[in-house]
Amino acid sequence: MGMQIAPSILSADFANLETEIARVSTADWLHFDVMDGHFVPNLTVGLPVLERIAQVSPMPVDAHLMIENPDRWAPRYAEAGAASVTFHYEAAKDPKAIARDLRALGVRASVALKPGTPVDAVLDDIKYFDMVLVMTVEPGFGGQSFMPDMLPKVEALRAAARDAAHDLWIQTDGGIARDTIEQTARAGCDVFVAGSAVYGAADPAAEVDALRDLAAAAAK
Ligand code: DX5
Ligand code: ZN
Repeated sequence: MGMQIAPSILSADFANLETEIARVSTADWLHFDVMDGHFVPNLTVGLPVLERIAQVSPMPVDAHLMIENPDRWAPRYAEAGAASVTFHYEAAKDPKAIARDLRALGVRASVALKPGTPVDAVLDDIKYFDMVLVMTVEPGFGGQSFMPDMLPKVEALRAAARDAAHDLWIQTDGGIARDTIEQTARAGCDVFVAGSAVYGAADPAAEVDALRDLAAAAAK
């Protein structure tokens, strides 16, 4: 796999989601942010919306669960049609068990780290996961500033994956745009979430391609 771009529909027009999804058809994934008003202060959408989005989206859906009790709920998002499910380490009682459940349902299992969570939390367990999401903002809202001090976590994960010969995808989410994607790619990230940078562009599909090209060139 090369560099992959996952536009976040958090920055899309929620009254016209099918049209908004079509505007990013050059993307590799559609990033679907679930917030419960408890794990994060904000509240977005959940299972019934994901179920319909997965039916109409030409791209596979990458669900990012910013919710409490992912041990119970993460498998439901796999059953609802997500092809990749990311839950937060901080909210999980048993991260490895959730990953096992997700893989058993045939989807990619991914764990996310808030900015304050050290990468050591998952470094010895990467084999259980298909992807690790390193948050580059405090989860909860789109349009925040990128935190470059998160990049050492990406570097540590990339080194650990190499040592373990594990094909781990590393995702970043928050403040990814033309001016931040190159350093992030060089650190070892290969899946980039972008909300405001993509949906704020005049041509979102072209912006997806531009971001992917920048990441690919930087990582060479
Ligand atoms: C934030 C969400 C992100 C958000 C990113 O908590 O997880 O996916 O949509 O938005 P930007 O790219 O605008 O920072
Ligand atoms: Zn997200």
